[in-house]
This record gives sequence, C-alpha cells and structure tokens, in this order.
Amino acid sequence: MKIDEQILRESGVHGEQWNALHEGYFSDALIARPLIETITRYLSAADADVVADLGGGTGFILRELVEQGITANRIPINLDCSEMQLEAAGQGGVSCIRGMISDFRRSDLVAGDEKHIFFIMRSVLHYFGREGLSSILQHIRQQARTGEMFVHQSACFENSREAQCINRLYLEMGSPKWYPVAEDLLDSMTAARWDVMDITPAPPLKLSSAELGQRYGIDEHDLLRIRSRLMDEFGEMENIFQCTRNGFVAYLQYMIFVGLAV
Ligand SMILES: C[S@@+](CC[C@H](N)C(=O)[O-])C[C@H]1O[C@@H](n2cnc3c(N)ncnc32)[C@H](O)[C@@H]1O
Repeated sequence: MKIDEQILRESGVHGEQWNALHEGYFSDALIARPLIETITRYLSAADADVVADLGGGTGFILRELVEQGITANRIPINLDCSEMQLEAAGQGGVSCIRGMISDFRRSDLVAGDEKHIFFIMRSVLHYFGREGLSSILQHIRQQARTGEMFVHQSACFENSREAQCINRLYLEMGSPKWYPVAEDLLDSMTAARWDVMDITPAPPLKLSSAELGQRYGIDEHDLLRIRSRLMDEFGEMENIFQCTRNGFVAYLQYMIFVGLAV
C-alpha cells in the first residue's frame, strides 16, 4: 500500500477529528512536554533559520513552540501530505507546505546556502514500513547540511518480541506501518549519517480496539478475530497488548532521538 493510499484510508480521523483521537494524545501539552523540552534544549543552541516539522499533522508541536517563544526569529514550517490535516492546522504563525517527506527538497524550505534548518518529527517514521525506514532517514539526511539537527519522537520497542507483537497487530489490520526495536532504529540513524547524541523516553500512546476499528475501518467481529490471533501467538504483554471486556488495548512506546548530521 502506497503512502497516499494509507493517508486516504485514515482520512476519517484526519483534520478536525485528529486532535481528539487516542484520548487527545496528539493535542496534549503535558504529553508533548518531553519532546518540546528536548527540542528547546537543542534549538536554543542551534544556528537555525527554519524549524521544519516533517509530517507535522495539525501543527500542534510547532504551535506549542511558537507560543512558548522557542521559534522566535525562526520560520516554523509544517510539511505534511494530508490536505485535511493542513486545513485543520490553520495558521497560528506556522507556514504549511503540502508535500511528501520522501520527495521534499531542502530548497522547498529555505532559499540559498546560508540558511540552516532544524528538523523535527513526531510519530511518522512508522508510515514508511520496514523497507522504507533506512531510505527515508537517508533522504532527510541528504536534505540536511552537516551540523544540522533532527529531533524525532518515534514509536519503537525495547525488544523484538514487543515489536513483533505490535507489528503483527498492524499486519492483521492490513496496515503497512512498521515499528522497529529502539536499538535497530539507532543503527539505522547511524547508518544514514545521523550521529545520535541523545535518546530519551516519551509517553506511550494507548490504542483501544474501538479507536483502531474507527481509524482503519475494521468491524467488531474482525477486531475480536485479531485479538484471538494475537493472544494465541503472544498472550497478554504488560504495557504492550492487553485484553479488555469488549476488545483490547495496545500501546505504542516512544523514544525521542536527537540526531546530528555528520
Ligand atoms: C501520526 S500523525 C502525527 C502528526 C504530528 N506529527 C503530531 O505529532 O501531531 C502522522 C502525520 O504524518 C503525515 N504523513 C505520513 N506520511 C507522510 C509522508 N510520506 N509525507 C508527508 N506527510 C506524511 C500524515 O498525514 C499525518 O499528519
């Protein structure tokens, strides 16, 4: 499934609905705090003219940074391929560019050689699937200049069994999204010439079967069939996959990676 087909499939939860999804995870300032604090720490010391949020969705992270004055004298840009997400983003001092992360060029964000970009991203790398992870990290690196930074919060797991369980869930839901083990994501960053200076945890995202059903268009019967398959293969796993009375809950674990282009 191509990325634009994935985005189309999820269009029912994009736009105005997005901020309320998954108990408001993506519009909650407290949940965003570890990422905002990490960005603030590195951005305040960086020589950056533009802060580019790759897959910025409805623009929550950039708006937080703008409101807190962290982007002062810098241009915040939200690059996202979903028209509905960008429409819901409004302005709030943030420029929006509709485009694919896999296709964007540095020149889409800054003019001339003198300007510097600080890249950020939250919860997007999994859209590129197992096969696409290395190439997207390389593409972003190719658009960066040596010394520029890429701070991203990405879903990844402590060990391969946890990652396999969640990857099986997405496979069963017919989604090509894919989640790595944190150590393997670190290796992929390094191989793409991102020197990882820091890795810290961020709050997990709780996914209820009802919301997953709504997001991916899966009925109750199929959700229960998926639950049985996961229970047969993995059983309940604390903080990863658990049964509820009517379905199940799964958790995406997140880490914040601070990369320096080398
Ligand atoms: C899970 S949402 C996260 C949104 C935002 N980063 C946040 O934390 O609130 C993923 C976003 O990435 C965008 N996206 C996914 N794949 C993309 C791609 N290849 N190019 C551009 N945007 C993409 C989607 O449209 C969506 O808005």
